[in-house]
Amino acid sequence: THQWRGIIEEYRSRLPVTADSPVVTLLEGGTPLVPAQLLSELTGCDVFLKVEGANPTGSFKDRGMTMAITRAKEEGAQAVICASTGNTSASAAAYAVRAGMVCAVLVPQGKIALGKMGQALIHGAKILQVDGNFDDCLDLARGLSEKYPVALVNSVNPVRIEGQKTAAFEIVDALGDAPDIHLLPVGNAGNITAYWRGYREYARPSPATTLDGDASRHTFTLPAISTRKPRMWGFQASGSAPIVNGAPVRSPQTIATAIRIGNPASWQFAEEARDESGGLIEAVTDRQILSAYRLLAAKEGVFVEPASAASVAGLLKALEEGKVDPGQRIVCTVTGNGLKDPDWAVAGAPQPVTVAVDADAAAEKLGLV
Ligand code: F0G
Repeated sequence: THQWRGIIEEYRSRLPVTADSPVVTLLEGGTPLVPAQLLSELTGCDVFLKVEGANPTGSFKDRGMTMAITRAKEEGAQAVICASTGNTSASAAAYAVRAGMVCAVLVPQGKIALGKMGQALIHGAKILQVDGNFDDCLDLARGLSEKYPVALVNSVNPVRIEGQKTAAFEIVDALGDAPDIHLLPVGNAGNITAYWRGYREYARPSPATTLDGDASRHTFTLPAISTRKPRMWGFQASGSAPIVNGAPVRSPQTIATAIRIGNPASWQFAEEARDESGGLIEAVTDRQILSAYRLLAAKEGVFVEPASAASVAGLLKALEEGKVDPGQRIVCTVTGNGLKDPDWAVAGAPQPVTVAVDADAAAEKLGLV
């Protein structure tokens, strides 16, 4: 049989698990790397979309969550907690169900998409809406995990990053080598950190980190798979662009609620990824994000949530600025499924017309006659 086994089984030798780890999985990963037709035409490059909305809960968070919940279970935790702009909470809630754990989530009040709230609710998470933004939620979650018996599963938990690095492995495995440029949205900056770790690890024969000083969790003799590493291009929303501005944003704003974050936890790692790879981290406006969001749906057939479109908005912006030489191989990660936040698909679109059950009338409305 050829069923994908989830990222822990597929990449076991590169992840901090042991033969005894109680793997908690929804068979995440193995997501499509879709050739982008229009974007390739526009850039003269081979552009691919890593469609992370195809994960079990509809975002890339599942890669980290299978690791975080497996580790929490291994350590005997009965409850997990996270702060979230929505996707982490949806993922944590689902994986906690698989593990038989209680899941608590802290979300910024009124600032998470309905689909994500629905996921956390239906999976039975305990949800607290915090009168504050994501950064406040994360402070609170950290504080609670330090004082009370509840495991923190945000990306400040290093095993989350380990799980998420597998997306870079999949890309190299699919393409035969690393791309020239990798673009992705940046919020709390865990994912750009994870991809860079994955690309670095695949390009040289030793793991980058020892998570907990336990060398037996790692294999130190893995061969290099790729011959090179991409330039990492990250994009924040312009109203929530602390890394671009060089200072935390006290009151971050953007319609891309998933990346509405003013003080990213992995800020320093994101700058390392940028600098070590010869990349960049820049801002895209909400208008550019929505335009890329619509282009992806209308021209590539890929429906993503607004924050996910920041990577493609960044590519189009860089193209306009003359920063994209033709002939390169480019991957844009689109991080979450469009169904998470359909409001933006409906807003501004023409209202569907109503017709009677009458073929001639329907044909006329459709412009077939
Ligand atoms: N895209 C989506 C759809 C996200 O949900 C997130 C983060 C990002 C991009 C940015 O990734 O934080 O690793 O830089 N969502 C987190 C959450 C904050 O709570 O779901 P990052």
